[in-house]
Formats: sequence, C-alpha cells, structure tokens
Amino acid sequence: MYVLGIWDGHDAGAAIVRGNKVLMAVNEERFTKNKLEVGFPVESIKCCLSYLKINPNEIKHIAVNTSDVAKTLTRLLPRVKKYYYLFRRRKLKPSFVNARREFKYKITEFPPNFLSNAITKSYFKKELERLGFKDFELYLVDHHMAHAAAAAFTCGFDKAVILTLDGVGDGLSGSVNLFKDGKIKRLSGISAKASLGIFFEQATNLMGMRELEDEGKLMALSDYSYKIPDEKNPLLKLFWVDGLTVRTKYSTWKRYRILQDLAWRTPHEDFAFMVQKTLEKHTLQLFQNAVKATKARNVAWAGGVASNIKCNMLIRKYSGLKEWYVFPHMGDGGLALGSALYVNNIVFKVKRVEFKDAYLGPDYSDQEIRNALKSHKELKFTKVKDIASRAADAVCDNEVVMWFQGRLEFGPRALGNRSILASASSKDVKDKLNVQLKRRDWFQPFCPSLLAEDADRLFENVGRPDHFMTMGYMAKPEMLLQVIAVVNVDNSARPQMITDENPLYRRLLERVKERTGYGIILNTSFNIHGDPIVNTPEDAIKAMNKGGAKFLAIGDYWVEAKQ
Ligand SMILES: [Fe+2]
Repeated sequence: MYVLGIWDGHDAGAAIVRGNKVLMAVNEERFTKNKLEVGFPVESIKCCLSYLKINPNEIKHIAVNTSDVAKTLTRLLPRVKKYYYLFRRRKLKPSFVNARREFKYKITEFPPNFLSNAITKSYFKKELERLGFKDFELYLVDHHMAHAAAAAFTCGFDKAVILTLDGVGDGLSGSVNLFKDGKIKRLSGISAKASLGIFFEQATNLMGMRELEDEGKLMALSDYSYKIPDEKNPLLKLFWVDGLTVRTKYSTWKRYRILQDLAWRTPHEDFAFMVQKTLEKHTLQLFQNAVKATKARNVAWAGGVASNIKCNMLIRKYSGLKEWYVFPHMGDGGLALGSALYVNNIVFKVKRVEFKDAYLGPDYSDQEIRNALKSHKELKFTKVKDIASRAADAVCDNEVVMWFQGRLEFGPRALGNRSILASASSKDVKDKLNVQLKRRDWFQPFCPSLLAEDADRLFENVGRPDHFMTMGYMAKPEMLLQVIAVVNVDNSARPQMITDENPLYRRLLERVKERTGYGIILNTSFNIHGDPIVNTPEDAIKAMNKGGAKFLAIGDYWVEAKQ
C-alpha cells in the first residue's frame, strides 16, 4: 500500500511511504544540479521507483499539493516558472521589475478555486501517465496541510499544536492546528497578505541576496548589529498577532516599499537585526497564543520560517512549552513527503511514521564507488579497514575531509552522509573552507556535529538531542575554544546531535573524542559554492576536483588528490 507524494514547485521532489515507514524521499536538485529546482520531478520519481524496485503499476495512491492560481498558471505556462526561477536567483534582470514584483505579490495571494483545482489534477494525471502510472487515485492536498502533516506524523507526539509558517501557498502564509488522536484539525489560517515569510524574503532581497535561499544569511548578519530597542524598530508595527492569526494593515507591495525605504538609510546589519527581531517577536507571540489556546504543550512546526534557528531557539525557551519538534525539511522541499503522509493518514489511518533519521535518498554499492574512482587517473585511492578513524585522524590533524557514505540526506542539511568535515576548534579552518570550497559570506557560521552525550558539556540548556540541525543553542562561554569554528559571533550554533542513528558517523566522532577529549567536528554540506549537495560518487569526485580538495573518504576508500 504505497503512497507517492509529489511536489513540483520550488525545491521539487518525490517521496514514497508505506504503512509507518518513509521508504524514500528525494529532491530534484540533486539530479539536475540546479539548486532548488522547480518543475515536475521526473528524476526524483524515477529514482524512488528504481531504488525501491517498484513498478508504477504498484502505486495506486498519489498525493500532490497546492493548486492556487499562481501555481496553476506556472503549470500551464512552464516558461513563466523557469523565468521566475532565474529572476529569483539573480541570473536575469527583467524590465519593469517593480511592476512585475507587485503583480507577483497580488497573484500569489489568490487561493485555489474550482477551475485551478481541475487544471492541477488534469496536469498531474497527464504527467504521471507519461511515466507509466495508470489506474491510480490522485489526491490534491492543501499546501499548509501538507506542511502540517509533515510535522504532525513524524513528530512522535500523541497530542501537539502544529504550526506552519512560510511565504505563501494556497492563499495562506501559515496555520495553527491541533494534532490529536492521529488527526489534524485546523484551528486558524494566516492570510497571505500578513505573511511573515514574504516579509523576511523581501528583506533578504533588499540586501542583495536571493529570496527563498539566503534567508539564513540575513539571520546570521543580524548578530552583527547593536541591540536596537523596540521603540526604534519601525518594522515591529507592520504586523500584530491577534489570537491564533497574524494581521497587517499593509498590502505586501506597500510593505516592500516601506522595507526598501528603511534599507536605503540603514546599515545592513542593523536592518537585518530589525527584520529578525520583527519575525522573532510575532512568531513567538503566535506560538504562545497557540499553546495557551490548545493547552497542548508539545509543539511541532514546519514551513520555510521554521528554518530560522534563532526564532526556533526563542520558542524552545518559552516556559509554557514541554517538548518541541521542527520537521527537518521544513521548506517547500518537504511538501512531497508531507502530502504523502497526509494521504497515508486519510486512506490508511496511519497515525505516525518512524522518523529516526533523514537518510532517505539513494546509496551506492562498493562496485559503483570503485568504478567511479577508477575512471579518474588524477586520484590515488586505497581501501581501508576503518574509514571513520582514518577520516577522524585527518580532521584532528587539521585537514579538511570530504565524507561520502550511505544514503543521501533528505532536506537542506548534510547530516553526516554527504558532508565536508573539519576541526571544530581550529581558528583558521573557516577561512580555509571559504577560500577553497564554500565561498560563503564572511559572517555565515559553520555548524557542528557532535556526540549527543557531549552536548551538555559544550552547550547550554540542551534537553533532548536535536538530530536534524534545526535548533539554535548557545555555547558555554568556558567551552568557546573547543567550538570556535562552529559558532556565530554571538556564540550561538546549530548542532547536529548524534545518538545511534548513524553508527559510522558516530564512530568517527568517537575517534575525534579519543584524540581531543570532545566528540565534535565542523560539518558543512558536501557541495561547492552554489551547487546542490552531491548525490553520486561521480558528483563527489567532481566536487573534490573542482574545489581542489585533498582528501575524500568515500565508502571504504580513502582518496587523495595526486596534486
Ligand atoms: Fe510552503
């Protein structure tokens, strides 16, 4: 009883669930190499079917989502989608930018209607039949319900308040839901016009960054401002929280103009601070109201805004909250799985799925890895007995190691299967990584992976371990030297805490601990600046060559560049 979930918008992808298991979930960018790829995810679907050895005929339930007017138009006119993608990534500058922007804001606020639903269903039927699917039931899931389902069915709580906050989808920018007895009940929707996500996107754009991609940079930059008092922050008044919803008196376009005016006369870091503070204040208020109204003290959340770890950290510290959970693929890239989980619940009454880790993509055999290595004469490689220890020793000797193991991670974070590893206590490794491989802005921090049992020694108020790098924690001041390469200027970090979900990676951390006394390393995604995370052995080798890296640990092979 498989359910296939599909998302064809920003960060398109596919997922297959059966019973209480997520069998596979992947995103199209990993195959096409266009970051956050848009469009019908042919390669993701094919990969799921071939990896799981399933014939399209075996899949009788297919979940798709989002049928608002703007999304439907991009299905009818795929060129619009590609054009917008290039514009958003700042690869193309169109004429009449302001008029186009204003039009975009207006059209994306229209909710679905009878016609857009019908067009969307017919579009998906045609595309799926082209791939060999037939005699299947097609379910159209609401955008925010798909986000909510992703959080609800993977969180492990019996009862929880589920919040979603993003830019816009199906006429809404967020929702508050109660998850109880395996059912999601929507308590409120937040209008597209009062979108905190679009607000943050607009500010990102006005800083010369890419909206829907560089919001984390804006958040990191905000730490470099002095603490501007609330009465001097005009942005706080753009929104207010009213019970279980967010309100505004401005149109989305008017708000863009207000932000534009402020950005023009404000230093970048101060502007970033005011924007971040506005997001934090209203989001926290909404969460507090939701907890009080539902008396559900466990909270799970998803949607693009949930990637803001500083905001998440404030929510975690709210005293009314007992347990928290952030769905690891919080943005639209998680919608394929979210919609599959929703249909899995509606049709097969599955109330929760196992979700211990996010290693849900393809993996590659020893033979496939060996064949890829053999075709590259510029590399020398040897098979080693204990690849984890070899990589750990190199990291402890202040080397940078590319690490490729097991199944590809699902979501924006590398979680120890497609990672670039380095010492967490090295003062110069950040510059070394940036010059050589990542070319990130100087103010963007790197993140750590650590043994969960070491988390309390290094960070404050840890509580239960976060396996997915979704939460901010403050480093203990006396431990700063141990984590100097993986904290931001305010000493916050976004750590991945490992228990038993990845034994090989755990072994590597244990070896680092033997050498240094602390099981912690710097873990950044295995990609070269601007590219998606690598998927295949060939991708890994190409990235190694492109970045001029010295060491790659792939499967059991220790690979060194000859030059
Ligand atoms: Fe969304």
